[in-house]
Amino acid sequence: MTEKDILQALSTVQEPDLGKDLVTLNMVKDIKIKDNDVFFTIVLTTPACPMKDAMASASENAIRTMVNKDAKVHVNFTANTTSNRVDQRQTLKGVKNIIAVVSGKGGVGKSTVAANLALALKEGGASVGLMDADIYGPSVPIMFGLRGERPMMKDVEGKGLIVPIEKYGIKTLSIGFLVDEKNAVVWRGPMASSAIRQFVTDVDWGELDYLVLDMPPGTGDIHLTIVQTVPVTGVIVVTTPQDVALADAKKAIAMFGQAQVKVPIIGIVENMAYFTPEELPDNKYYIFGKEGGKRLAEEYDIPFLGQIPLVQSIREGGDQGVPAMVGKDEVTKKAFREFAGVSVRNISIRNANMPKTAVVEMIK
Ligand SMILES: Nc1ncnc2c1ncn2[C@@H]1O[C@H](COP(=O)(O)OP(=O)(O)OP(=O)(O)O)[C@@H](O)[C@H]1O
Ligand SMILES: [Mg+2]
Repeated sequence: MTEKDILQALSTVQEPDLGKDLVTLNMVKDIKIKDNDVFFTIVLTTPACPMKDAMASASENAIRTMVNKDAKVHVNFTANTTSNRVDQRQTLKGVKNIIAVVSGKGGVGKSTVAANLALALKEGGASVGLMDADIYGPSVPIMFGLRGERPMMKDVEGKGLIVPIEKYGIKTLSIGFLVDEKNAVVWRGPMASSAIRQFVTDVDWGELDYLVLDMPPGTGDIHLTIVQTVPVTGVIVVTTPQDVALADAKKAIAMFGQAQVKVPIIGIVENMAYFTPEELPDNKYYIFGKEGGKRLAEEYDIPFLGQIPLVQSIREGGDQGVPAMVGKDEVTKKAFREFAGVSVRNISIRNANMPKTAVVEMIK
């Protein structure tokens, strides 16, 4: 067996999402051969890649069929998370991907989904930040058990930057860390826009694979300000299955899709998709209707990212500062993990196939 034989075999293995083979995509590194043992590394486009195992077994098959039927194949994985930013403004320059979690309707679970997405990506090996961009109703301090915490400031090249607060292995920041809970934020209009602009950019995030933005409900000025301030890779739309939520989700899709904005939709996730009582784990009750989010995704030809069940422990964990992904309920964690996996897959596909990510220029 030679390195050339191995590369030849691996050039028949497709990366399942990107439609090209591992060698063409430059994903194979450090091939070593010793007798019947073959060692090499596959460089993934995201650490949380759910297709790892499939790629490993396809590689093994290819080598055994084409090179040596007795080969023992040892695949190691690393990741170099893809990004497709054009950095004309260098805003948050160490951040590879900025993912905005949005909904049309309030209360459908954006903050819950954003927090658990961030934690699931971290669990998969990515470096992750979570920014609570909901200046009217910040949730991160409660969800992460960080009420009353105050972030430090740091001087970077003569500029004062806010240092995010770390919890559960991710960096978080919320307007709730800066403003007293009792003094509800009363910013409106231009004042809110300029505050959020500063609040989003003057932060020392460092190097991140993913920065998740927990957005306010609706489709307002804050959303437009954010896409004009930082290069948003794409948005994840959260909806619940009932018609009133779906109607509002359509407004969000329309807003990000309009000609002057054009921020890609990574996909739709259906939260509170069904209720399962703890004592009857096989029963699913479709309280808010069945698969409304899935149908919406089909109707708009947008990726469907998954279903999150309605579970009491999700609500309790959110209130107690212990998000589901760091809690004990394995069924719920599995749902969030699968959703996160499908999401990063679609982000990698987006980075490979769609126009570069840039700040949206002035919206008239
Ligand atoms: N899948 C779920 N199962 C049980 N409770 C949930 C689920 N998703 C969210 N919740 C609960 O519903 C409430 C609203 O969720 P959350 O704050 O995440 O929504 P939101 O869309 O961010 O709201 P807002 O529009 O006010 O920002 C919270 O108490 C949360 O714990
Ligand atoms: Mg929220």
